[in-house]
Amino acid sequence: MKNLRVLIVGNGGREHALAWKLAQSPELEQLFVAPGNAGTVMWNVPIPTQDIPALIEFALKEKIDLTLVGPEDPLSLGIVDAFHEAGLRIFGPTQAAAQLEGSKSFAKTIMESAQIPTAAWAIFEDPLPAKAYVRSIGAPCVLKADGLAAGKGVIVAMDLETALQAVDEIMDGGFGSAGKKLVIEEFLEGQEVSLLCFSDGVTACPMVPVQDHKRALEGDLGLNTGGMGTYSPPPIWTAELEASVMKDLVAPTLQVMSARGTPFQGVLFLGLMLTQRGPKLLEYNVRFGDPETQVVMKRLKSDLLPILWACTEGRLSEVELEWKEEVAVCVVMAAPGYPLAYAKGIPIHLPELQGSDSVIFQAGTGISEGQLLSTGGRVLGITAEGKTLQQAREKAYVLVEKIDFPKAHYRRDIGVKGL
Ligand code: AMP
Ligand code: GLY
Repeated sequence: MKNLRVLIVGNGGREHALAWKLAQSPELEQLFVAPGNAGTVMWNVPIPTQDIPALIEFALKEKIDLTLVGPEDPLSLGIVDAFHEAGLRIFGPTQAAAQLEGSKSFAKTIMESAQIPTAAWAIFEDPLPAKAYVRSIGAPCVLKADGLAAGKGVIVAMDLETALQAVDEIMDGGFGSAGKKLVIEEFLEGQEVSLLCFSDGVTACPMVPVQDHKRALEGDLGLNTGGMGTYSPPPIWTAELEASVMKDLVAPTLQVMSARGTPFQGVLFLGLMLTQRGPKLLEYNVRFGDPETQVVMKRLKSDLLPILWACTEGRLSEVELEWKEEVAVCVVMAAPGYPLAYAKGIPIHLPELQGSDSVIFQAGTGISEGQLLSTGGRVLGITAEGKTLQQAREKAYVLVEKIDFPKAHYRRDIGVKGL
């Protein structure tokens, strides 16, 4: 493999981080990002992530050797199956395997057959029995829309009244078809860790562990978001923990997926809760995390391209991954109001980064008449590394202060749990 032409599908901070990393590969000839953002402007092609026929047409015309899919929606729509049918190489799970993220009830069924430790759960299609169940288990409990809801379909109810309201909120049509079925779960307590693994269907290789900050406000308060910041590695993670998660959670998942004829190739991302009674699986994602990828790519020493290539050929067992010792931190700067209604079109000025090893990954950004503007909720991911978590945090926050982004919303406590 030499002189590869690579297409990344997506337009978030995750895709900017993947593009930044792939652009450093000696195996790369040309990179494209569809549709990308202002951070990936030199590689952008204006094709929406869900326009699978147009992506295939582009990949055939441009003789793309490998396509890498960032977000979950095109995976759930079957982009991988469609590329395979067109004879194109693509990194990511098929539509059948992507159900691990696309349907929470499917995920729970797989966890059950693979005997994976997870929260006790029940599924409902009508609000009345759902409410009766909520009353029987009491609060706290967790209510989840069954389908994809961009990380916002989960309500952690600390009291009974909130839980009962959540049943109506999710099932009353506010979440569309994602809310037709409702999953109600036992509340688990502990620290969360995201573990992303490369998988070729048979072999899985863990990436470095990451702690995300899902809530909008400092101290883990406020609404759930797509993620307000990350750091890696969280000190709570140990080599023994990793070995047991790979053996008891990841390997059985791959086995069950293969046995049912839907092997999992791509990134298998475990959302773990480290409880007093061991690690429990909150959820699967079937893709790189955002903003997990920003710190993972910052710490990956190896070339990413041969790893992705090996996954598409079932040769991951031949690949060695190398990671930097440095700690990495990513602070997300969001539009004021996010995750609720937020303003767009806010002008942003970025400082020069000459001589710095920090990176500003862009997410919801665009350019209009030469001016950088916000176009989405999560806008920038300020990513820094250091010998210690303290150092990495300091570097990230010094850079945050230098960014001219009026009324930006960000958390000042990213990584504090790890200090
Ligand atoms: P999910 O999309 O299923 O990962 O849920 C989003 C967030 O809700 C998770 O990252 C947790 O912070 C929280 N959460 C989900 N399930 C549970 C649970 N069973 N117990 C406690 N918190 C949960
Ligand atoms: N940051 C969590 C996710 O990508 O789902």
